[in-house]
Amino acid sequence: MTKNFAHRGFSGKYPENTMLAFRKAVEEGVDGVELDVQLTKDGEVVIIHDETIDRTTDGKGLVVSYTYDELRKFDASFKFRGQCGFNPIPTLREYFELVKDKNIVTNIELKTGLNEYFGIEEKVWKLIEEYKLEDRVLISSFNHYSVLRMKNIAPNLKYGLLTETWIINAGKYTEDVGVKCYHPHFLSMTAENVKELKEHNIEINVYTVNEEKDIRDMIEKGIDIVIGNYPDLTKKILEEYK
Ligand code: G3P
Ligand code: MG
Repeated sequence: MTKNFAHRGFSGKYPENTMLAFRKAVEEGVDGVELDVQLTKDGEVVIIHDETIDRTTDGKGLVVSYTYDELRKFDASFKFRGQCGFNPIPTLREYFELVKDKNIVTNIELKTGLNEYFGIEEKVWKLIEEYKLEDRVLISSFNHYSVLRMKNIAPNLKYGLLTETWIINAGKYTEDVGVKCYHPHFLSMTAENVKELKEHNIEINVYTVNEEKDIRDMIEKGIDIVIGNYPDLTKKILEEYK
């Protein structure tokens, strides 16, 4: 059965990539949480989608230009002002504290596409090892070199290749790279492309599926994980298929 993952936490209703959005996703009973990681100036692994803090916080500038103590002063829920108090940019460690004893899989997306943040793979691995989350993480990135760097460090974790475009023979490509999962935009998952991926035994984990008709389409195509902003909607639809 298709699994239900919350994209940047329960980001359809709560501020994305905040502990609040992660707690709400967990309360919703999701199978997993997707989140994005980057590095601060002082090398802390933080959870934020963009390379700058401009869109999601009340501050401005590059994530990497701030130390974590400086970064923590900005409000990552400023768009929800008056509704949910102050929510800082979380660290990956803080998030792991939330899920360490829970049956939740975490899809950690290495945001190494624009800034490669050399060394981030090792730092993420050390945290996974410390929290003994080896069997409950799935590592992905649009930067496939970054995926391979991490796979070299931690060969036994599960990995996925993120893509924005329509890759020809994606199953063959993923198998050739030597990883288990393919993470495409859901629109590229035509019946033909799903078939090719399944022929190569590749797990298909799609983003970002928010509409009822698309969630149904992905379930009916046998997609392994649906990553969306409304895990409550996905959950409701999945109930019907059980
Ligand atoms: O990992 C799936 C999805 O999060 C990839 O795109 O831009 O939302 O991080 P983005
Ligand atoms: Mg992401």
